[in-house]
Amino acid sequence: MKKFAFLAAAAAVCAAIATPATAQFAKPEQAIKYRQAGMALIGSHFGRMAPVAKKEAPFDAAAIAKNVEVLSVLATLPWAGFAPGTEGGDTKAEAWSDAKGFKQAEDDFLAAMGKLKTAADSGDFDAFRVAFGNVGKSCKICHDAYRKDN
Ligand code: HEC
Repeated sequence: MKKFAFLAAAAAVCAAIATPATAQFAKPEQAIKYRQAGMALIGSHFGRMAPVAKKEAPFDAAAIAKNVEVLSVLATLPWAGFAPGTEGGDTKAEAWSDAKGFKQAEDDFLAAMGKLKTAADSGDFDAFRVAFGNVGKSCKICHDAYRKDN
């Protein structure tokens, strides 16, 4: 009995590993909702730092570091929602026909996010301001190429 339970568990793990990422969404609409929710959270946690970067709000190093920590996790989320076969939402067809370019834009964004994390952790305002601007550019580059104008 014990042995059977172990084998069943092992089989379940193997099945989970063999399942493609797309299978985490039963329908394309769920993937679209997921990526939009992820982007909306990224927009909120990124955008709230803009007044600080523009010197319109005081720089609270600890608060910025904490927010960037949250943003770093959020930044990893939306991509699973752009799986093949989930065309739609506000994403241009180019995100799939030019999958390499889209992946590059994702990688450039994540690299810029890594630098923002280092800068925020350093507590240095100028380092934060520069890194924040570079992340913003990486958002825009991807949106210009792969997001529909509304
Ligand atoms: C690699 C590409 C890429 C990067 C990088 C990226 N986005 Fe997006 N974003 C998209 C696409 C594509 C959509 C449209 C998703 C859809 O509706 O299918 C989108 C949608 C959004 C939305 C609308 C979400 C909604 O409610 O529907 C917001 C807000 C947003 N992005 C903010 C950001 C911010 C802020 C950054 C940078 C910190 C960023 N994005 C980085 C591709 C990207």
